Amino acid sequence: MFILPNNVTIIEVGPRDGLQNDKNYVDTQHKLAFIQALQGAGITEMELTSFVSPKWVPQMADAKEIIANTSQVGRQFVLTPNAKGVELALEAGVQSVAVFVGVSNSFNKKNINRSTDESMAALEPVIANLKAAGVFVRACISTAFYCPYEGRIDPIATLALCQRFTAFGVDELSVADTIGMANPQESYSLFHTLKQELPNILLTAHFHDTRKMAMANIFAALQAGIDRFDTSAGGLGGCPFAPGATGNVATEDVVHMLDTLGIQTGIDVKKVCEAVQVIAPHVSRPIDTGMYRLFENGI
Ligand code: HMG
Ligand code: MG
Repeated sequence: MFILPNNVTIIEVGPRDGLQNDKNYVDTQHKLAFIQALQGAGITEMELTSFVSPKWVPQMADAKEIIANTSQVGRQFVLTPNAKGVELALEAGVQSVAVFVGVSNSFNKKNINRSTDESMAALEPVIANLKAAGVFVRACISTAFYCPYEGRIDPIATLALCQRFTAFGVDELSVADTIGMANPQESYSLFHTLKQELPNILLTAHFHDTRKMAMANIFAALQAGIDRFDTSAGGLGGCPFAPGATGNVATEDVVHMLDTLGIQTGIDVKKVCEAVQVIAPHVSRPIDTGMYRLFENGI
């Protein structure tokens, strides 16, 4: 039989990863309504927005307003790559910060204009200061399996980056299949290794569903002992600097699968679909996830 956890934590990334690359500029009030509806569905951990250069990612330019108008109950993250973003996040009163770095140098340069080593050197004191201030720090590891520019990533390189972040004192590692290329064998193998090598840190899996393998990869990661998953309501998502990075795996579909397996998440699928309905008219892509389609058809 399969070995499955009793409980899984879902970290909703729709308001950040889901919207950052959308062609339509989504008004702040619609983003806030989406966030509120997601919180109402039982989501307690969420990436709300990012403090990044508005020239690079215009969609996230309203980060300050998003934070000022959102309840900070649970862990409400802002994503940021550098000291400037952390400074802005702390000024805004944030208590949970997500930093991000790619294993692959080429991706990291395209995404944040620095090599992986340069980013890590700059982040080390930033993370030390955040930990000294009692802030929860999550580190997002992009291109953990494949890079759009360099191809397959050596799992040893991913492990090494995770170990460096762990030594910096982060609380959580969110390990990402940025362009949705990993298969379930690779998912199991990497997460099994990470669980063994880093037993004292929260480990989260972040799958993009580009090739429709995310659900299989989640099931494989569950077998490896992972019980935290980043998902995005409506399956929205994608990184502007990773060609081919389409939507994240959909929150409503993952929660439904976990429900049917008897795994508790504390999240109401129907209410997630209602949250999707709030944002659907404002995004450029039609939403076509399994559970949302059924919801829209009244089934
Ligand atoms: P740069 O041009 O090298 O920046 O970009 P710089 O340090 O030279 O500064 C240039 C200007 O940007 C300055 O302003 C800075 O103050 C400002 P100026 O003096 O010209 O007026 N600046 C900032 N403003 C706001 N917030 C900041 C910030 N930092 C500098 N944090 C930079 C470097 C990192 C800023 C840029 O490359 C950038 O913003 N990149 C963000 C890219 C991004 O958001 N990508 C998507 C998120 S990652 C992702 O989706 C992957 C993930 O989901 C996991 C997965 O799936 O793989 C997490
Ligand atoms: Mg992502």
